[in-house]
Amino acid sequence: MKKVLFVCLGNICRSPSAEGVFKHLVAKANLEDKIFVDSCGTAAHHEGEPADSRMREHAQKRGYDLTSIARGMVKKDFEEFDYILTMDNSNFKNVLALTADDQKYKVKKITDFCSNHPHDQVPDPYYGGPEGFELVLDLLEDACQGLLNQIQKELHQ
Ligand code: 4NP
Repeated sequence: MKKVLFVCLGNICRSPSAEGVFKHLVAKANLEDKIFVDSCGTAAHHEGEPADSRMREHAQKRGYDLTSIARGMVKKDFEEFDYILTMDNSNFKNVLALTADDQKYKVKKITDFCSNHPHDQVPDPYYGGPEGFELVLDLLEDACQGLLNQIQKELHQ
């Protein structure tokens, strides 16, 4: 079993979308019993809330049902998960600072797995317009496919 945790700031826009997009790909590949997927945020301000309604609408239009409920990151996450995937430079630094040295290899930026976009971050869409939410989904669709390819290789090793 490989365990994947997507992390953003609030766990109401980017990481719930990554969770939704990746779960969709995992289900399509019939790997639900081999890959566990979750998401969380470094800030717990939105704990207990569903994903942002704008994010859910944009995702729904592409066929993704975002059902996750926001939670903050906890210490146990660093031991439990194999991949800890962050969204932007600040998020990456914040998570890395919380991670013990022997677990730091697990922490990456999700854009490391993009092959069709030059972006090195998934920008926070919260204070912007609709195009920001679309960009989040464009980048995550690209990155999640790359991530699944990588994990499938590991599962076959
Ligand atoms: P997320 O977006 O990190 O992608 O969930 C944000 C959600 C909320 C806030 C910032 C970013 N906020 O400042 O409340």
